[in-house]
Amino acid sequence: MKQTEKIPETFLGIGYTRDRAGLPLEAVRVPVPQPAADQVLIRVAASSLNPLEYKLADLNFMGRTPPVVLGLDLAGVVVAVGREVKGVAIGDAVAAMADLNGDGGWAATGGNGGEGGYALALQTLTVCKPPSVSFRDAAALPMAFLSAFAGLYRTVQAGDTVYIPGGGGGVGHLAVQMAARSLEAGLVISSGSTPQSISLARQSGAHHVFNYKRDDIAAEIAKLTGGRGVDLVFDATYSEQGFVETAKAVRRDGSWIVLGVGPGKTTRLVETRSPVDAILADRGVKRGDVNLLRYFSEPATFDGEARAFLQRGMALAMEWATQGLVVPHIGQTIDSTVEAINAGLQSMRAGRGPGGKVAVIVDRDLALSASSEPGSTDR
Ligand SMILES: NC(=O)c1ccc[n+]([C@@H]2O[C@H](COP(=O)([O-])OP(=O)(O)OC[C@H]3O[C@@H](n4cnc5c(N)ncnc54)[C@H](OP(=O)(O)O)[C@@H]3O)[C@@H](O)[C@H]2O)c1
Repeated sequence: MKQTEKIPETFLGIGYTRDRAGLPLEAVRVPVPQPAADQVLIRVAASSLNPLEYKLADLNFMGRTPPVVLGLDLAGVVVAVGREVKGVAIGDAVAAMADLNGDGGWAATGGNGGEGGYALALQTLTVCKPPSVSFRDAAALPMAFLSAFAGLYRTVQAGDTVYIPGGGGGVGHLAVQMAARSLEAGLVISSGSTPQSISLARQSGAHHVFNYKRDDIAAEIAKLTGGRGVDLVFDATYSEQGFVETAKAVRRDGSWIVLGVGPGKTTRLVETRSPVDAILADRGVKRGDVNLLRYFSEPATFDGEARAFLQRGMALAMEWATQGLVVPHIGQTIDSTVEAINAGLQSMRAGRGPGGKVAVIVDRDLALSASSEPGSTDR
């Protein structure tokens, strides 16, 4: 392992300390980890909230032995590298996704840095951060961007008609931008339930945004597509009722892509009977499953091809953010305190998030250090 700056032996992380403890998370002192051969150690400047974090606290479904520090989206500076790491060096500003069956980088610093927050990431899931992308924005991208990327890249063809429900969500607003701006879909339809999320879906490039609690979206899609249905649905809403409706919106022989464990399993606790597969089969629709967690719960699936694909995704996250094509909307920025993170996760769980992403500032000085130049995405 190579390292330069003095790294403390421990730091005060934020996570869960008992199996299935749920929220609230607690501050917990943990050792600063050491990178394995293919990992980098990052001093964390910023992170963001993901629903996965309250789900892990609730269910500990990756089978970890607590304490588990959360905060799996990372942006910061590399302070140590494993012996096989190439292409990323100590001192580099980076964005990364921590292993989803590993520890994250939330530290009880109140944004003041203090002794810092540290987390490991695989080199494959670490990318150099361009100066024009702030640490805050870079940290909002990894998990949500990779989810959208895995669903849409090489699947959406230029000119396609695409339906992405929930275009005001963390994954949804990036997916809408990606489809509309980077992958040049011809028509992007989305949905939301609040004025904020509907407006974010529109700003993200959706041509039509419906209210899924009020509108008859199937009828609207039929009107927009001359009764044919869309070429592709990407559904990242984890809503069983929603799955049934979006499955019916796909044209014959189109594609229905779902993020996560999929129909009938959304609670992770009980499996319910879902009509989705029958609806898809009836119309000859191809189902695609995207699940980043699976790479970590079934490591054999995280093969060379999968690693190269996600590495390409991390590179494009930075490239498209720099080009203004896929830019995270930061609905709220909070300091890394136990209280603020718990409040943010509780709102998210209740479906009352601010829309887009909630950014977490772990070290304000570090976060501002390389992001204040002109053209930075920090607003
Ligand atoms: N396994 C994986 O690889 C993986 C990776 C990332 C995320 N996920 C999962 O994917 C889900 C989304 O993550 P996120 O970060 O985007 O969460 P989020 O920011 O909380 O967004 C959830 C979105 O879903 C929308 N929604 C809920 N029910 C809907 C319905 N019936 N129809 C249309 N939209 C609906 C909400 O819209 P309104 O707010 O307008 O109601 C909101 O925009 C979470 O469950 C997360 O755990 C899985």
